[in-house]
Amino acid sequence: MVLTEEETAMLEGEYGEGTALAMRIQVGIGEAFDAQRMVPISRAHVALSNQEADLWFVEKLLHLGASCRVPPTVNPGFDLSYFSTVTTVKSEDLEQMAQTAQAYRNIGAILNYSCTPYLFDNIPRLHEIVAFSESSATPYVNAVYYGARTNRESAQSALCAAITGRVPEYGLLLPESRYGTILVQIEASLRSDFDYQLLGYAIPKKIHGEIPVFIGIPENVTPEALMNLGAELNTAGAVPMYHILGVTPEAQSLDQATGYRKDLNTVVITDKDLERVHDQISKKTGPIDFVMLGCPHLTLKQIQNIAQMVHGHKLRTELWLNTSAHTRLLAERLGIAQIIEEAGGHILQDSCVDQPIWAHLAGKTGATDSPKCAYYTTRRSMDFVIRSIEDCVTAAIKGEISS
Ligand code: F3S
Repeated sequence: MVLTEEETAMLEGEYGEGTALAMRIQVGIGEAFDAQRMVPISRAHVALSNQEADLWFVEKLLHLGASCRVPPTVNPGFDLSYFSTVTTVKSEDLEQMAQTAQAYRNIGAILNYSCTPYLFDNIPRLHEIVAFSESSATPYVNAVYYGARTNRESAQSALCAAITGRVPEYGLLLPESRYGTILVQIEASLRSDFDYQLLGYAIPKKIHGEIPVFIGIPENVTPEALMNLGAELNTAGAVPMYHILGVTPEAQSLDQATGYRKDLNTVVITDKDLERVHDQISKKTGPIDFVMLGCPHLTLKQIQNIAQMVHGHKLRTELWLNTSAHTRLLAERLGIAQIIEEAGGHILQDSCVDQPIWAHLAGKTGATDSPKCAYYTTRRSMDFVIRSIEDCVTAAIKGEISS
């Protein structure tokens, strides 16, 4: 790779050992992908996980004197102020979250604790080069309205990018590598945002590393549906870029989306594909112990709908709604947080479904709309029936899912 004078100075330690380590890692990544040079970034998002290795990495950089040139937003961990009052949460887990918060604060991150930063905290513009990790975030900023450019970064590579303010130029940063390479004809009926969860889970099994051009997704698809689609594409597979005609800025026509290639293969996704994947990943219906929603974090619109459904009811099961601090504040101001809490539900800010705070749910069966939630929490011994948000909320009211 050819480095500029400043990048060479970073590599050689003139900006401190922490920056040098970050640059060494990035040059290694660049060489692995045949990048020719580094390019500046203007934004980053780090998928902080609040796990031991994550804390080890950020503290190592910090102790070597690193700080972020480009302050990154970060993923959720858990809300310390709420969970420090919950007796089932262990003191060592509280300590780890406190240390993680301190380390990211000291290195210069923006502690927004959201896995949907692209909706309000960290919004790029067309063609902007950024370094985003987090499954739903990467395809959203590449493929939805913004048309920014990011590779599928890990939390660690995104943090290095935030420190050096650079990324190696390869993959989706190059316009010619962003064209669609396979056509995906959607014949399945996409009636609700939930269907996009199943669609996102079904597609990677059929396309194996290609960049899909979706034909048959309506132009008025909702932000929530696209959030769901991206989260599952990158959980069931690794699909950081796609094209939807009329939605993706680089896909105003089929020719533009494919770079005028005419020889692309087509795969078809039918209702049967969605039913098959749903049967594979969901537990059977019956009584449930809890409902977990907000993976990715719920939007205000979703929380408003949930509040309407539970208004006047007393829930039979626990109902946990994960969202950003920003959305939680709006829910309070609008009086909908109170409606949900009166019914017995909880709206949590800053928190992720894949955290040690859920120890009391181990061995129990819940309901969720998110295959990603069900997938990650198997290691926390939770089982899930997967249904739409509406069906999950009805299940919290009745204590069971019957169909
Ligand atoms: Fe967000 Fe955690 Fe799910 S980061 S997308 S709630 S696994």
